[in-house]
Amino acid sequence: MIEMIKKFAKENDVPIMMDEGISFLVDFIKENNVKNILEIGSGIGFSSIMMANVSDDIFIDTVELDKERYLLALDNINKFNLDKRINIYNLDALKFNSDKKYDLVFIDGPKAQYKKHFEMFFNNVDKGYFVFDNINFHGMVDNPNLTNNRNTRALVRKIKKFRDEMLDSDYNVKYYKDIGDGIIIIKKE
Ligand SMILES: C[S@@+](CC[C@H](N)C(=O)[O-])C[C@H]1O[C@@H](n2cnc3c(N)ncnc32)[C@H](O)[C@@H]1O
Repeated sequence: MIEMIKKFAKENDVPIMMDEGISFLVDFIKENNVKNILEIGSGIGFSSIMMANVSDDIFIDTVELDKERYLLALDNINKFNLDKRINIYNLDALKFNSDKKYDLVFIDGPKAQYKKHFEMFFNNVDKGYFVFDNINFHGMVDNPNLTNNRNTRALVRKIKKFRDEMLDSDYNVKYYKDIGDGIIIIKKE
């Protein structure tokens, strides 16, 4: 059934995590005993379903701005009988205010807002992790000449700025450049 979601995403231009990236994330969740997850950017529910399927005691809150994707994600979550463990919210992530503490915040929404979302959800993690996908943005972060589109170039500059800032910071940061589309993990301890 997960293959159907992947097929739908491909045919309808819905961005979802690359195979290598999602299996890395799933392994990370297993190895680090992650149980409570906040995801920014649900898409049609692919990554939240994959993460919830790691173990029956994993609970996920996931936030999606786009109404149509939210409804598709909701439907997919129900098809997998995961509605008791995945709560999906049709909201702009900036409006998701919660005091809840998570073991992991997976930030996979608007790339230009990574820094803002990191700051916004910083207090939702005591000891745990922040994961950011698409840090390479299809190779364009290191090679902006791959696109002539001005908006994409501006976006890619923002991702690069975020990446450089994180790598230069005092946070415990790991950059997995060669995994999927490039992943950054920040450990808060
Ligand atoms: C890369 S996709 C998420 C893919 C999903 N995590 C997966 O791998 O299956 C990013 C999603 O973020 C959503 N998004 C964009 N801006 C947002 C915002 N301000 N708040 C919440 N979601 C947003 C987009 O509609 C899109 O579906």
